[in-house]
Order: sequence, then structure tokens, then C-alpha cells
Amino acid sequence: MAGSYDDRDGKIWMDGKLVEWRDANVHILTHAMHYASSVFEGERAYNGKIFKSREHSERLIASAEALDMPMPYSIDEIEAAKEETLKASGLTDAYVRVLVWRGSGEDMGVASALNPVRMAVAVWGWGAYYGDAKMQGAKLDIAEWKRPSPETIPVHAKAAGLYMICTISKHKAEAKGCSDALFMDWRGYVAEATGANVFFVKDGEVHTPKADCFLNGITRQTVIQMLKDKGITVHERRIKPEEMAEFEQCWLTGTAAEVTPVGQIGDYTFEVGDMTRDIAESYERLVRE
Ligand SMILES: Cc1ncc(COP(=O)(O)O)c(C=O)c1O
Repeated sequence: MAGSYDDRDGKIWMDGKLVEWRDANVHILTHAMHYASSVFEGERAYNGKIFKSREHSERLIASAEALDMPMPYSIDEIEAAKEETLKASGLTDAYVRVLVWRGSGEDMGVASALNPVRMAVAVWGWGAYYGDAKMQGAKLDIAEWKRPSPETIPVHAKAAGLYMICTISKHKAEAKGCSDALFMDWRGYVAEATGANVFFVKDGEVHTPKADCFLNGITRQTVIQMLKDKGITVHERRIKPEEMAEFEQCWLTGTAAEVTPVGQIGDYTFEVGDMTRDIAESYERLVRE
């Protein structure tokens, strides 16, 4: 399956049933298109099983609540929709995208209470998110935009509106030959990449930004637990950008990114070292258990 995402064979789950892939469309006066009233999940299935599926569904419900969108489906119904779509895809290793949004209805202003909340699930094959970087270490730009304060936007929701600065920053990064961009937060501390969390290694210990104003990734939480189980000390704390000069290794975590080594962020360089390789391999094993 390749080519444009709207022109493929297969089925997409939409509002309670599977429809033809090419028929999974919405009207131009969809509220979400105009006001970013949309939340989503990105999940991966390995050997036919979605990794941490229920945690993703729980986060989806929490994200919808944060945007004042009453979810029309229970957690079990969301789980069943994902299973049904995965099965229909015929894939065992796949990316699963769940989208919840305010559709078109009687509201076309900013308020949307009169418009239905809709849900769709699409499944497709998606390999390494950063391509070759997975082996060699990704090169990251430093974004000009900052991750905002929790007082300005629901920072813990996986909501479309939070990705506006991600797209702008990633375009700029790719134009410079980088795979991604790293954000600082509104206070100037290291935050996360455009679709992944960040970890650093120094003197055998791990340092990662405290998730107090960005997405606390499910992969991030999994990797922190894996490190602790290996007896490695993990510091979740505020990290100043200049500390990157002292860090020896770096990696990104995310459902799409999995564990991706980082070789460079701006002018700071890192080695793809033993701990990075070990944690990437351990994660690969865990998701297939
Ligand atoms: C902005 C952002 N941060 C972090 C992550 C990592 O989250 P997770 O590990 O739950 O996929 C993602 C990916 O979903 C993301 O889009």
C-alpha cells in the first residue's frame, strides 16, 4: 500500500462501521477543520497485538475530555473498533491512528456543542519513523517555537492544535537536512521533539525532562520503567539546553519513533552508545512479548 493517503485500498472504521478507504470523508464545514477541535492517538501493533492499547484509549478519552468533547464510545467500544480495523487490514505489524473530532452540524462558530463528536480508526503499515536515523543517530534542529505553559493550552492532551508549531518546526528542520526539531519549553528548559520525548545519558545515569508541559508519552513511561528495572537511575527534572554539552548519549521515544538514537541536536553531538543500543533492543523485545 503506497501513494496518497486518501487513495488506497482497504477499510476505515468511521462512526461505528467499516467503510471503503476512499469513502472515509468529511464535509468542508467540519468544525475540526476550522478550529482544531480534534484529538487522536498513534499506536503500533506488533505480531497482531496493539502495544499498550488500553492506555492509548484511556489517553484518547482524557484528551477528548480536555477539549470538552463528550466521547460517544466507551473504552471497550474503542478497543473493539481498533481490533476490528486491524483485523480488516490483514496486517500484523501496523500503525493504528484513532481520530476523534467535532463534525459539521448546527454550529459554525467557535462553540461546537451542537455538532456531533465523531470517531475514525485507520490502520496502515509504517516502518521506521526516522528512516536510517534508527541505526546512525538522528540529527535534530532546535525549534524556534516553545512548548507552551499549561496555563495557555491543555498541554497533556494529544490534540491537533498542539501540532501546529510541530509542523512548522519540522519543515524548517528538514530544510536544514535534519530529521526533526527539539523544543525548549516556555521557561527555556529542554522539552521534547515534534512527535517524541527525549532522554540523555551522563555517567551511566539517565536524565529526561519532567513532563509538566508536554505529552507524557506512553513509550516514555515504558522506557523509564524499563531503565529502573535494569537498575539504572533516572532523573526526571528540568534540563537547561546548555547541559546538552555534557550529555554523552541521547535518544527519542515515541510510538512511531520507538527508541531512536540521536547523534546531534543543534551543535551538540552524542555517541550512539551501549545504553542507547541496549534500551532500543529491549524495547523491541518488549513490544513483541
Ligand atoms: C508531541 C509528542 N510527544 C511525545 C510523543 C510520544 O508519545 P507516545 O510514546 O505515547 O507515542 C508523541 C507521539 O505520540 C507526540 O506526538
